[in-house]
Formats: sequence, C-alpha cells, structure tokens
Amino acid sequence: MSQTQLHIRQMTLGDIDLAMNLKDQVGWNQTPDDIRRLIEYEPDGCFIAEFDGVPVGTVSTTSYGTKLGWIGMMLVLPEYRRRGIARKLMETSIDYLRGRGVTCIKLDATPLGQPLYEQLGFHAEWGFQRWEREGENAPEFSLGGDLSAQMVATDAVAFGADRSCWLTSVGAGCRVFTTPSTVGMLRPGSVATYLGPVVSEDSSEVASMVGEMLSTVEGRIFWDIPSGNEVSEQLASTHGFQPVRQLLRMWRGDSNVAGRPELQFALLDPTTG
Ligand SMILES: CC(C)(COP(=O)(O)OP(=O)(O)OC[C@H]1O[C@@H](n2cnc3c(N)ncnc32)[C@H](O)[C@@H]1OP(=O)(O)O)[C@@H](O)C(=O)NCCC(=O)NCCS
Repeated sequence: MSQTQLHIRQMTLGDIDLAMNLKDQVGWNQTPDDIRRLIEYEPDGCFIAEFDGVPVGTVSTTSYGTKLGWIGMMLVLPEYRRRGIARKLMETSIDYLRGRGVTCIKLDATPLGQPLYEQLGFHAEWGFQRWEREGENAPEFSLGGDLSAQMVATDAVAFGADRSCWLTSVGAGCRVFTTPSTVGMLRPGSVATYLGPVVSEDSSEVASMVGEMLSTVEGRIFWDIPSGNEVSEQLASTHGFQPVRQLLRMWRGDSNVAGRPELQFALLDPTTG
C-alpha cells in the first residue's frame, strides 16, 4: 500500500498554467502575468504543495528588502484541506523569508485562513473590504504611464517600506495615473479589473483621480478599501460599487511595520500588500 506523502517544491515559470488552474478553482483574480511577476521577483520563494504527486496548493512570498515580506496565493484545493497542507506551506514561506533576513512578515487573511495564521503567530493589524462593481470583465484597456520618484516615495510612507522594484514591475502591466500628490493604477485581472493602489497625500485629489480611472474601463471592477476610509467608501458607493468581502491585514515579527494606512485609498493587491 502506498504511503501518502506531502511534498513542497519551488514554483517555477513552467508552473504558471498549473498555478492558474489551481487559483481558478477558488475564483481568484490573478492573470498569468501576475504569477510570472511573482516568480521572477522571488524565484526561490514561491512554492507548490503536492500530495501523493498531485499539485494541490500554492503560496508566494514577496520581500521588500529585509524590513518587510509578504505571503500570498495561499490556497489548498477544497478536497485536500484540513490535513496540515497550508500549515506546511506557511512554515516553508516563513522559514524562507526569515532566511532572507526579513524581520516583519505580513499577509491579507480571508476568514478561512485567519485561524491558522493566528496559530502561526500573526496578529491582526487592520481590516479592509473588497468593494465590487458588477459587470462583464473587461481585461482589455490601454496600459502605460510612468511612476514618478515622488510617487514611489509617497507610497513608501503609506505602505511602510520601499517597494519601488515591485511597483515598477507591477506598473509595467498597469495603466498608471499620476497627479502631483496622488498615484493610481488600474490592472487587468482574470475575473475583474483591479483598481489600486491609489495612494495620496491630498485626499481632495482622490475623487478626480478615481473618476478619471473609472472613465477608462467598463464593467466588473474590484477595489480594496481599508475599513474606515470614508473618502474611498463614499466614492465607491457613488460609482456603483458594493462591499462584498471582509479581509484582515495581519503581521508577524518583533515589531510591526505600520506605514500610514490613511494615505491608502485603494490597496495594491492582497497577494503582495
Ligand atoms: C485557508 C486554507 C489555505 C487552509 O488550508 P488547509 O490545508 O485546510 O489548512 P491546514 O490543514 O494546514 O489547517 C487548517 C485546519 O486543519 C487542521 N488540521 C491540520 N491537520 C489536520 C489533520 N491531519 N486532520 C484534521 N485537521 C487538521 C488545522 O489544525 C486547522 O484547524 P483549526 O483552524 O480548526 O485549528 C484553505 O482553506 C483555502 O485554500 N481556502 C481558500 C483560499 C483562502 O481563503 N486562502 C487564504 C488566503 S489568506
């Protein structure tokens, strides 16, 4: 009789179709380009779980220097859950990031993941809601626009760490909008266009920025808003969005890298912060 075996291996660029197939089974929004970017940015830090040789789960890590690292794409297929597979993927990711010298690790938890993350030492930071505007997905819109050094610096203050390399990589697959104090990005998704990040030092610029962004694309859009950001919540309601899911940002380490969430009017992505 064969013995069941859990094996964790690195995810490579050859696994993009496999990772897409797994995430399609839970309805997530990543595109093949999103997964390629994750693997190219952190080639040793993305993993696949195989159970008896069958690929059943994924996880990604993204490090922003040694100050902060992110864990994302944490999923296990429904029929393989409650066997410790996510725990093993999480432990592998935490060990990897700690091995890189990362001192604070964060993730964005769904209600299904939160109990496990608490067991692994993660603490609640703040909640956010996914808002959605319904419609057909419209992945085709023109990409382009440049991030200014000033906007990258503003993002670092809002986020709590310099993620300029990652923003540049993601920005290449986005439509980027900038004004003197505000940056916004629209990103194609496999399920819906993703509005975010929107980071601003001047909340009075956000309404016109969001209006311009939304005039660019029709149809289904996701927008992740930190709870209590009344400017964004009001705008989202006005533009026909509704809150559909609650998520929780969590951190683990000696001390939290807090940033300034009040400057974040839309988040970049639960996978990477
Ligand atoms: C969240 C998720 C990744 C958890 O995956 P999982 O492989 O079931 O997680 P684990 O088995 O490691 O742990 C989950 C539970 O199973 C329990 N468990 C672990 N090994 C077990 C075993 N051999 N037998 C029974 N239960 C077991 C764990 O103790 C834990 O239970 P608890 O939370 O009640 O203490 C999975 O539910 C999932 O993919 N959900 C959809 C996507 C999602 O929400 N991902 C999280 C994004 S942040």
